Amino acid sequence: MIRKKLIAGNWKMNKTSADAVALARDIVFSLGTQSSVDVVVCPPFTALEGVARAVDGSLVKLGAQNMHFEASGAFTGEVSAPMLRALFATHVILGHSERRTLFGETDELVNKKVLSALKNQLRPIVCVGESLAEREAGSTLKVVQAQTERALDGVSKEIAASIIIAYEPVWAIGTGKVATTEQAQEVHGFIRGLLAKAYGDAVAQRIRILYGGSMKPANAPELLAQKDIDGGLIGGASLEVRSFIELVNAAAGAS
Ligand code: PGA
Repeated sequence: MIRKKLIAGNWKMNKTSADAVALARDIVFSLGTQSSVDVVVCPPFTALEGVARAVDGSLVKLGAQNMHFEASGAFTGEVSAPMLRALFATHVILGHSERRTLFGETDELVNKKVLSALKNQLRPIVCVGESLAEREAGSTLKVVQAQTERALDGVSKEIAASIIIAYEPVWAIGTGKVATTEQAQEVHGFIRGLLAKAYGDAVAQRIRILYGGSMKPANAPELLAQKDIDGGLIGGASLEVRSFIELVNAAAGAS
């Protein structure tokens, strides 16, 4: 398998710094020396430094949930890629649907962030996905295509394999409504095709495409067994060590 599975926890606006450190320690302890799956945790900004220390020397990697595209300047309330790098973050979630719908992030803004992340050696986890209305209108693939192509505009073939895509149908996020394996695989395969068109098949085969949206230990094995589903971006089930580790184990089992 050329693509190592990846399980990323998106903790969203949950956990104080102390609670985040405790969870990160539990994850490190429970994972032990397993190395067949890449594991990333994305705590809130306030917990990044503490969690960086807690995962230091382990196989768990650190991600942020957002960033500004400029390196520094008069952008009150924002955090930049070099600042995240200085805390040993290796990944950053960009264009999450909550950022798009609640904070007005556009495809153009997401694209600027993607380019800035890559320039600063951060791996972007680029989120794309349709709303319920878009799915019901039959425009899922069109929406996903536009979001994917716009987010990756200007990303060169040489660096494209560092990108991670997360397909997250908006109607499945935090709702308990998971996409069926067929629905998910259809979109993942479609995204792989878009990547192949943009970067060639060899590069497209190296890019990981995660599924996100109510992924839980119970539904993960079937999703992760699909040929183009390379892992998960996990919200709710990443907030407790037990369910998160079960998801990592499911990914290991599907590898
Ligand atoms: P969920 O969130 O697992 O709670 O549905 C996923 C996400 O928003 O990344």
